[in-house]
Amino acid sequence: MNIVLMGPPGAGKGTQAEVMARNLFVPHISTGDIFRANIKAGTELGRLANQYISKGDLVPDEVTMAMIKDRLAEEDCAKGFILDGLPRTIGQADALAEILAEQGKKLDFVVNIDVPIEKLIERLSGRRVCRNCSQTYHMVNNPPVEAGVCDECGGELYQRADDSEETIKNRLDVYLAQSAPLIEYYQDKGVLFSINGDQAINKVLTDVGRGLGQNW
Ligand code: AP5
Ligand code: MG
Ligand code: ZN
Repeated sequence: MNIVLMGPPGAGKGTQAEVMARNLFVPHISTGDIFRANIKAGTELGRLANQYISKGDLVPDEVTMAMIKDRLAEEDCAKGFILDGLPRTIGQADALAEILAEQGKKLDFVVNIDVPIEKLIERLSGRRVCRNCSQTYHMVNNPPVEAGVCDECGGELYQRADDSEETIKNRLDVYLAQSAPLIEYYQDKGVLFSINGDQAINKVLTDVGRGLGQNW
């Protein structure tokens, strides 16, 4: 199953994609995670991407699409994938369609996680992420058993650099201007369904599953 997971910053894309990927036996491909791994490793791509990510702006389409083209060509994507955080512009959506067509594939579903903008700031400012395994927590909504420590691997939890209030505001503006138009784009193609993301994490997962025809 080839799936795109869309939604504003903090909608819960990463949280849902982790579980969906385990249930569907397909890779969870988060463009944000790939960029952050490159920043951490000090690669050329990481240095370039960080200039945009640190401000909450989008990394240029050519850079992002070259990266994702390579990733989608890897063997683990043969049986499907969950794309989290791409496409974010109409240009990326068109380029993605071309890449998939070259590989003889198409998107089966685009899942849009809908959360009111005013709820997102609270979600993002309370988020903590494991430095080691990237598992995501929320200090109030989804806290780890022991404060500051990952339940999964015992790693240290940290706050993402772009989860500062000023950068969050820009990310939301960028989403509304550049990514929100994709909802209509995919609606017109007949592949999109929307989920109410303003509910408990498990309830969102159930609703996503229903849309995908999965009873998990
Ligand atoms: P990326 O890492 O994708 O960030 P984002 O889109 O801003 O989304 P987030 O990861 O912040 O949110 P999420 O929806 O995954 O929510 P989460 O599950 O963590 O991208 C970062 C940057 O990389 C971009 O700004 C851009 O610069 C660059 N980039 C990435 N892709 C790009 C592209 N295609 N083109 C160009 N540039 C690109 O949940 C958030 C919090 O809420 C957590 O604390 C979680 O525990 C909590 N939570 C989750 N679900 C619920 C719920 N149902 N109820 C209550 N709390 C919940
Ligand atoms: Mg994410
Ligand atoms: Zn961990």
